[in-house]
Amino acid sequence: MAGELLQRRHRLLGQHAPLFYEEPLEIVSGEGVWLTSADGRRYLDVYNNVPSCGHCHPHIIAALTGQASRLNVHTRYLHNTILDYVERLTALFDPSLDMAMLTCSGSEANELALRMVRHMTGHQGIIVTDGAYHGNTEAVAELGTGFMPEAEGCQRVVGIPAPDSYRLPPGVTTETAEDYYVAQVESAIETLQSRGMGVAGILLCPEFANEGLLNAPEGFIDRAVAAVRAAGGLYIADEVQGGFGRTGHHWWSHQQHESVPDVVTLGKPMGNGHPLAGIIARRDLVEPFSATAMYFNTFAGNPVSCAVGMAVLDVIEQEGLMANAVSTGAHVKAGLDKLALASTAIGDVRQKGLFFGVELISDPATRAPDTRLAKQVVNQLKDRGVLISSIGQHNNVLKMRPPLPFGPEHGDILLAALGEVLLETDTP
Ligand SMILES: Cc1ncc(COP(=O)(O)O)c(C=O)c1O
Repeated sequence: MAGELLQRRHRLLGQHAPLFYEEPLEIVSGEGVWLTSADGRRYLDVYNNVPSCGHCHPHIIAALTGQASRLNVHTRYLHNTILDYVERLTALFDPSLDMAMLTCSGSEANELALRMVRHMTGHQGIIVTDGAYHGNTEAVAELGTGFMPEAEGCQRVVGIPAPDSYRLPPGVTTETAEDYYVAQVESAIETLQSRGMGVAGILLCPEFANEGLLNAPEGFIDRAVAAVRAAGGLYIADEVQGGFGRTGHHWWSHQQHESVPDVVTLGKPMGNGHPLAGIIARRDLVEPFSATAMYFNTFAGNPVSCAVGMAVLDVIEQEGLMANAVSTGAHVKAGLDKLALASTAIGDVRQKGLFFGVELISDPATRAPDTRLAKQVVNQLKDRGVLISSIGQHNNVLKMRPPLPFGPEHGDILLAALGEVLLETDTP
């Protein structure tokens, strides 16, 4: 049956439409942090950050169906719901970030942010980190330095090495890492200026989530942003993965640093699975930009989407999901640290709230990335009923970011399964 489904998928969507696991899963329902496959097996979801309030949350479903059964229409009519939502959402940011433009995906949000900073600065140049993924439109694909065809030879984007504190470039030490990575930003600024592009901005995911959930050197972001601003550029924080309370202590991951972004892009968890995304930006950017650049997005910010977005905020607040991210995150981190002592395959454990990156290595002396083992662990965990994935430049970092109602009891299931898999596969 699964074979038939796979063949049909290949025929209709092509062989290259991305799919998880050596033996792909057919998921038919979800509830909280659990997913159920077509054969009735339950899987603990330690991967999906989009249904961040939990799969099929009843309060969010009620908001969606309630509004959908009254009215859904585009945003060129007056409607309280969009205003109530944007008012509540922007109140969660620095007071300078008081306006929103809604979109349907994180890619559209980043595309819009690029248009805005280029328009407002009159410059074209954008600095990004290598290995970051920011989405799928043509201009955003140019940001995929090192792996997107659109980025190849693109003159208006310069990639810098992602600020990795664990896997340092040759000759760089823990003490010199921050200066080294800031110098990369300064050099990127010079490159863009020498090309006549100028500096429109730096676009960073403050968690470096797609780069492997890196622990950047402490002062890197603030110093990088200061250098970009001195060159006339703006700071775009991509909160598509790090936002909506996942890191626990803050609503937004950029709030771990001093620098307040000029534009923030949002997506994934914003609608708990409903396509809701957008940008939050300063009034002095949004007003002049939208006065000249016509921006209308048929589905974005419709009453149903905004009712859903509002319900997501209700759940995060009413169910204490950020406090849970702090406490369960610490519980799981302690368990992962313990596992790291028992398994030489774990080189580094990184965690922010309910966001975990576990770096697998084949040799503690050289820290050589173990891509093969990461693939094996992901597939074997799936066989044990636990869903995770891998990420990073070498695809050797176990990537775990469960729905936020993930409790310590779920963490214990993950830790037990991961311990079994790693200790079974560990080579002495
Ligand atoms: C950090 C980041 N930004 C932007 C995007 C693009 O979002 P979307 O897939 O909703 O277009 C992604 C998607 O994975 C992402 O991880």
